[in-house]
Amino acid sequence: TQLDDLYRRVIMDHYKNPRNRGKFDDDTVTVDLNNPTCGDRISLQLKLADGIVEDARFTGEGCSISMSSASMMTEAVKGKKLDEALEFADKFSSLMKGEEVTFDDYEDLEALSGVNKFPARIKCATLAWNALRKGIDHND
Ligand code: FES
Ligand code: FES
Repeated sequence: TQLDDLYRRVIMDHYKNPRNRGKFDDDTVTVDLNNPTCGDRISLQLKLADGIVEDARFTGEGCSISMSSASMMTEAVKGKKLDEALEFADKFSSLMKGEEVTFDDYEDLEALSGVNKFPARIKCATLAWNALRKGIDHND
């Protein structure tokens, strides 16, 4: 369908032109996670200050779903309060369960909605979000 095509284009755009890919030099929270089913990995860095995700970067290797999800996640949570970022993570979990969710301030995330039909791909898409949760928990 046209919507599937649009979603595919959004995913490939994030995969080919990842936002926030790289590393910070200064002090940050770093979370390294891998997807046990395939061994792909992500390293997420968060700058957390005053209860806000000031900035986020990631590196890693993985499939288009995992890398585009990381790109979208970092864009979505930058500048957000920690509880708002966690709300985003919860909403993304709902999306992966096939629930109808809209992301008013970052619609690109909706492009991953089709993933919920494929359990292996859900693991790919949630990798970055699990890293986010871990990074925020660790900071408490
Ligand atoms: Fe990601 Fe198979 S584990 S597509
Ligand atoms: Fe490994 Fe998707 S196939 S993260």
